[in-house]
Amino acid sequence: MTYTHEDLSRLQANSLKMQSWIRRQTFSPELEKTLRRFSSWEVSELILKVNQSTFRGRLAADPSLPAGEVVGDGRQRWYTLEEINEMRRRMKVNRRSLLPRRPTGKRAFRAAVANFKGGAGKSTVALHFAHAAALDGYRVLVVDFDPQATLSHSMGLSDVAEEYTVWGIMARDLVRETDRMNEAPTAAESGASLPRRQIPSSIRDMGLGTLRVPDFIKPTAWSSIDIIPSCANAAFVEFASAQYRHLNPDWSFFAAVSRYLDGLAPDAYDLVIFDCPPAIGYQSMNAVFAADMLYIPSGPGYWEYDSTTSFIGQLAEALEDLSAGFPAGNLPLPKAFLEIRFLLTRYEPGNDLHRAMFDAFRKVFDGHVAEHPIEMTRAVEQSGRFLSSVYEIDYRDMTRETWRRARTTFDQAYAEFRDTVLSAWDRLEDVA
Ligand SMILES: Nc1ncnc2c1ncn2[C@@H]1O[C@H](COP(=O)(O)OP(=O)(O)O)[C@@H](O)[C@H]1O
Ligand SMILES: [Mg+2]
Repeated sequence: MTYTHEDLSRLQANSLKMQSWIRRQTFSPELEKTLRRFSSWEVSELILKVNQSTFRGRLAADPSLPAGEVVGDGRQRWYTLEEINEMRRRMKVNRRSLLPRRPTGKRAFRAAVANFKGGAGKSTVALHFAHAAALDGYRVLVVDFDPQATLSHSMGLSDVAEEYTVWGIMARDLVRETDRMNEAPTAAESGASLPRRQIPSSIRDMGLGTLRVPDFIKPTAWSSIDIIPSCANAAFVEFASAQYRHLNPDWSFFAAVSRYLDGLAPDAYDLVIFDCPPAIGYQSMNAVFAADMLYIPSGPGYWEYDSTTSFIGQLAEALEDLSAGFPAGNLPLPKAFLEIRFLLTRYEPGNDLHRAMFDAFRKVFDGHVAEHPIEMTRAVEQSGRFLSSVYEIDYRDMTRETWRRARTTFDQAYAEFRDTVLSAWDRLEDVA
């Protein structure tokens, strides 16, 4: 008995038939992801970081502020994210604004969560940092570069057409860049005109060239988080991109997403967070080249340390190669990051091996290791199955202690991430 592509196709067809049923079994019953409300305890102490009685006093004094909703036993009010953001804009505490810090004159800051190892915690970190940043008052765009689409699914996007993924952005860029090059006068330097570069109709007819920047951006259940999603079909990007490069050898294929993001209004978002695929390739190099900062999650075991070391080795080689022999468009080379950080995940403070690895990381990656590892938590294991972050889980749905511990470890890791972003952001070039 042997099996060919036909058997694989048959298995896939079966799976597709069952897909929406499987999704219903494992996802929210109504297929639509919604965001819960947050209690006045959470809003005051955990989100706005204002003393609870001060908070209640403020709301009582100004009835035009959002009123929230009383549920259950009626002792707490529960607020939507929009209401929280309205309070942020309108309330001051001790003359302190509740709006998050953002340097003036800068575009959104781009952080790539990257490691070539699968299971390092990339998607978990990207999801939690996006949610924590949104609760901190930032407007976030997440870009899912991984065809496994974990982050897209977690954010409630499950029916995504491949044109609207990073692959679409790359193909659109190929068409636009090729048109631009064909139109540009080239005879001046060479004396002879270069052959016109042809884009086959199979690509041109998809109409990607005419898509506008916002066409790739989808809303999520969080009103201040948008996403450029991925989908399983985007896996062929790697094949397609290799062909595309031959269609136009002058195309700076690794700068496509960077160019795309440059087309956003500088103040459209505060933070852009990339979730990267677990492999080196066209998509991950696009992520890396568009990033101002690399945040590298790693598990706390020896083999994870080993593969993180090989990740930065491969990345260094790829960046060096691309800096030398490839067209770069308007991207300055070599690629320079404003910051590089390693972040331990699934860390158990009581585990001697983990503590030893944490020390080793700090010794080896001197000054580049986040001080607050993300601890192993049951809340995330549980939430992973339901594709939710600890911020989305209602604390009444699990032991308060478990929820609190999980929330604390992500809060601390996020606060350090934010401070790292803020100091790098100041060093980002001003927008023209
Ligand atoms: N802090 C954590 N505590 C417990 N489980 C975690 C934690 N971080 C990640 N996980 C689990 O580890 C698995 C891999 O994480 P994921 O973020 O998908 O990795 P990657 O995106 O790097 O492949 C997931 O099942 C996730 O729920
Ligand atoms: Mg992932």
